[in-house]
Amino acid sequence: QNVLVLFGGCSSEHDISLKSATTILTNMDETRYTVYPVGITKEGKWLLYTGTDYNLASNGWQTNGIPAILSPDATHKCLWVVKENGEAPVRIAIDVVFPVLHGKNGEDGTIQGLCELAQIPFVGCGLVASAVSMDKAFTKIVVEAKGVPQAKFVIVKEKEMKEVDKVLSKIEAAFPYPYFIKPANAGSSVGISKANNKAELITGLYEALKHDKKVLVEETIIGREVETAVLGNEEVKVSGVGEILAAAEFYDFDAKYNNADSKTVVNADLPISIKEKIRGYAREVFDAVEGKGLSRIDFFVKEDGGIIFNELNTLPGFTSISMYPMLFEEEGIPIKELVTELIELASL
Ligand code: DAL
Ligand code: MG
Repeated sequence: QNVLVLFGGCSSEHDISLKSATTILTNMDETRYTVYPVGITKEGKWLLYTGTDYNLASNGWQTNGIPAILSPDATHKCLWVVKENGEAPVRIAIDVVFPVLHGKNGEDGTIQGLCELAQIPFVGCGLVASAVSMDKAFTKIVVEAKGVPQAKFVIVKEKEMKEVDKVLSKIEAAFPYPYFIKPANAGSSVGISKANNKAELITGLYEALKHDKKVLVEETIIGREVETAVLGNEEVKVSGVGEILAAAEFYDFDAKYNNADSKTVVNADLPISIKEKIRGYAREVFDAVEGKGLSRIDFFVKEDGGIIFNELNTLPGFTSISMYPMLFEEEGIPIKELVTELIELASL
């Protein structure tokens, strides 16, 4: 089978994707699959990577490659490789697309829509599940309808900011400080801040609005940050429950990727009854967004044992410190098998 692996991408999580791509590409079963890695630059250029360095120039990738595009024509089911010397483009048949992309333009339904047009099976969630899960405001609404507990929230749209006072009163009437302020569509904690007072709320709203036209303001949940991984289509496996022991006050971009003191444990020290409840909620959330393939679903556990859904990532990180592959390794599925299983689960 020919597998097209997409990495990089026009997203604030471009660099994380390169790290994830290293893991996926180096763990691809070469006896089953012929891999065609295509890197997408931060500007959105698609380049077929013809090298064999799967550390992808130590995760910095140097944008080397031959221009190549995935045809949306369902009768093609191919990657067109564009020769620059005037020769006709070369066609590579593609059986499966593996989008190893995080955040915008990759995890948000755009690439999934392209694969659906092309009628090529792809790894992970479809267009709607991806789009709903990328948009934290829509995720809230869908999860609320399912009855899974989550933090109270207010959605703020950019156009409402013409009347800032109204927005502030709407938020302050909903629940007390401190607040978490997040762009509705952004990944890896970009543009997120915490507000302890009105001044910080205003600054935080404008900061988040730099990243999206819609912002989510949430009540602060004090609790342990736990994560669980889901694998499968109709029949899903739910992993054990891992925990993030963050060094920073909350698990921001810096604490996540640059701070050596952030630790993850694959088996959270929690009562079995609580872990079972988390795993049950993970199934419900995956079902609520109509997920398929994979997702990592994150929760808080409060001191009183209450469980609060936090967010789901339909294309979670596969870096060497990422929870998704570690959680399944703990379940007895080593990374190489996991990559094979994900490809075998690819569907339309
Ligand atoms: N969005 C990053 C990649 C993650 O959640 O793992
Ligand atoms: Mg994400």
